[in-house]
Amino acid sequence: MRTRSELRIRSSSGDYAVVIGRGSLEDALASADVVMVDANLADTVAAGAMPVLPVKATEDEKTLAGIEKLVVAMNRAGVRRGHRLLAVGGGVVQDVATFASAVYMRGLTWTFAPTTLMAMADSCIGGKSSINVGGLKNLVGNFHPPRQIVIATTFLTTLDASAISAGLAEAVKISFCRGSDAFHGYLSRWVNFAEDPEELLVHVLDTKRWFVEIDEHDEKERRQLNFGHTFGHALETAVRNRISHGAAVAVGMLCAIDHPLAAKTSDTQALGTHCRALLSQVTALPQALSDFDAAEFERAFRSDKKHTHDQFRLILPQDGGGVREIAIPVTDQAWTDILAGTRSVLFSLGGDAP
Ligand SMILES: NC(=O)c1ccc[n+]([C@@H]2O[C@H](COP(=O)([O-])OP(=O)(O)OC[C@H]3O[C@@H](n4cnc5c(N)ncnc54)[C@H](O)[C@@H]3O)[C@@H](O)[C@H]2O)c1
Repeated sequence: MRTRSELRIRSSSGDYAVVIGRGSLEDALASADVVMVDANLADTVAAGAMPVLPVKATEDEKTLAGIEKLVVAMNRAGVRRGHRLLAVGGGVVQDVATFASAVYMRGLTWTFAPTTLMAMADSCIGGKSSINVGGLKNLVGNFHPPRQIVIATTFLTTLDASAISAGLAEAVKISFCRGSDAFHGYLSRWVNFAEDPEELLVHVLDTKRWFVEIDEHDEKERRQLNFGHTFGHALETAVRNRISHGAAVAVGMLCAIDHPLAAKTSDTQALGTHCRALLSQVTALPQALSDFDAAEFERAFRSDKKHTHDQFRLILPQDGGGVREIAIPVTDQAWTDILAGTRSVLFSLGGDAP
């Protein structure tokens, strides 16, 4: 079993290191001036006399109104330009920390300690934030990577099976997008995940590194990582965020695999089986899916930032492994097919009849 691994990520705003191990946050705390922490985890962070800014990890907090509150709290806590921020939490804390640290006094450097598997395996590298506006998921955002990422896998021990499955959904997505070898590399490490999470984390982060280094600002190859997200984001909105982002992505991958223009291969079949196995661990999934609001789904799906005014842009599996972006003219028929396919997947997962 590994004890500590390190990766370096190249970035136009400065390279940064990812340290992965079972240790604590002691070193990161020692070099911080202020801590932003998921309010549910505030007790786990020994910040001493340092100012601590608790953040509720909810979709309502990762909004412009939430950022404003946080920036005011940073100011009241005496945070100055040149102070170093340590953010501890999952994807919500990461999103608000990325955004707030970029704009507060025109920019602070920061360290991120991810505490969910989703944030450890996926979102911690790449430097993006995604902020909700007007009830629409992730409509605005920026790039402002942390200077360092410290992954203390001890945080995994307090996550429930649903949260682990949500993280694994993003992990398998990244691996599948990179091609057949990376996908099978993930599956072979997944079987030992409980005993050796670092092995899987290193594989997935190293795989994601290729995307974020070759296309840092999401203009070409990195867009492939939106696989499952066009459906997934719309689904999150359509069930009023009653399922986690990762679970929605797993459902979204099933919708994408099912689309008539998706390649049907042994890998897509294996991915479908794996997503269903992960989703079987997500508590209350059928109840949440039964609340599916088709009008909200349509509104959110159509407003996805990848689409143009006359084309839906979907990331779908391709022959030979991996995924590609496909443009589909926006017609009533195209929309009817997307909605019918989605309903059929939801029904297969225990949601209401299509
Ligand atoms: N910026 C990006 O690149 C990016 C990428 C993917 C997802 N996201 C965003 O991330 C968000 C989802 O983040 P998430 O799935 O990491 O979860 P989260 O931050 O929403 O937290 C979910 C719950 O888990 C709790 N929690 C966090 N760590 C815990 C731990 N170690 N033990 C027990 N409970 C813990 C939180 O308090 C919260 O109740 C979404 O808003 C999504 O849009 C951002």
